[in-house]
Amino acid sequence: MSSLPQILREKLSTTPSGRLPFAQVMELALYHPEHGYYGAGPRKIGRQGDFFTSVSVGPLFGKLLALYALREWQALGEPEDFTLIEQGAHDGQLAEDVLNALDGKPLRYLIVEPNPKYREAQFKRLGDRVQWVESLTALQSGPQHAFFLCNELPDAFPVHLVRWNGQSWEELFVETDGTEAFRFISGDCSCAELADEMKHLPHDLAPGHTLEINLTMLAWIHALAKAAFRGAIFIADYGLDAEEFHADSRADGTIRRYWQHQTDGQVLVNLGECDLTTHIHFTRLIDEAVRHGLTQREYDLQGRLLGRMAMPWLQSLEGRPPDAATMRQFNSLTHPALMGRSFRCLILEKSGR
Ligand SMILES: C[S@@+](CC[C@H](N)C(=O)[O-])C[C@H]1O[C@@H](n2cnc3c(N)ncnc32)[C@H](O)[C@@H]1O
Repeated sequence: MSSLPQILREKLSTTPSGRLPFAQVMELALYHPEHGYYGAGPRKIGRQGDFFTSVSVGPLFGKLLALYALREWQALGEPEDFTLIEQGAHDGQLAEDVLNALDGKPLRYLIVEPNPKYREAQFKRLGDRVQWVESLTALQSGPQHAFFLCNELPDAFPVHLVRWNGQSWEELFVETDGTEAFRFISGDCSCAELADEMKHLPHDLAPGHTLEINLTMLAWIHALAKAAFRGAIFIADYGLDAEEFHADSRADGTIRRYWQHQTDGQVLVNLGECDLTTHIHFTRLIDEAVRHGLTQREYDLQGRLLGRMAMPWLQSLEGRPPDAATMRQFNSLTHPALMGRSFRCLILEKSGR
């Protein structure tokens, strides 16, 4: 039985240059249909998995999103075709939490899911409470009104790595080190889109400073902007603004591997068995969104934005405290030392096409 490292070695041996852009290696490591960390099927997230997400904290995150979506639906005049659309739905947990909190309101739920193994797991959990499309392209023909949501989606997109050598930016490629292991080697940039992005990078950083370029995220927000719907787009993820990526303390970039709640920068080790992930470049994401006609409604630390989203719910409690489990979830999602500061939320407004 072959493994992801074996598959990569074979691929490198049939590539004339003997090396591949890191983005292609990350794509294989995460999405190879049999041996990729995500491609093989939804893994456990939470205590028994490799990392926590706001979804694995408990149902409160979904409840707050459901309440926000309901307000969006009302603001749009309660259109009949209003649909909640989720991408990166994993095992369907967030969809279930949102649907349970909708309190019987007749809103549709659509999952954008390219992987049949994930659709199967989502169907097991959700049955006919949701519908599916394979890609964002399907959204170009409708619905006309929607609230799009995703949690920790673009952090799982494959990225290119680039390094400043003191005089110019170079791309990082992967090759074998002559034994069983892999190593990085720098070289000229592998594609025109990457070269365009590199033109906007600063030149006043220390030699060796490494950054990720998430071209998939840029194409993704463009595809979302082309969807037919009018409404809003909610994106929650860990991420930084431009100047934070350029700080000396980030000189190694943000690419990390996660395994059993441990994290390090050895991203070419145990390929296929660990999650590989990067911080979102929110400044670049917002620029690209605006370039394609979307408008920034809110962008803030998760703690502050979820805090504001929670206000109507907290007011509805009329001074009665939520139960202890819900309080713990609220604390995990919003406390600056937990998920409140490292995670950020972006809400974009979208006019119809
Ligand atoms: C870090 S996990 C987050 C899972 C879940 N949203 C949560 O917060 O617990 C990233 C998820 O994004 C999914 N994903 C990556 N690219 C995708 C794409 N193009 N379309 C749909 N899902 C995708 C992966 O399969 C994985 O389930």
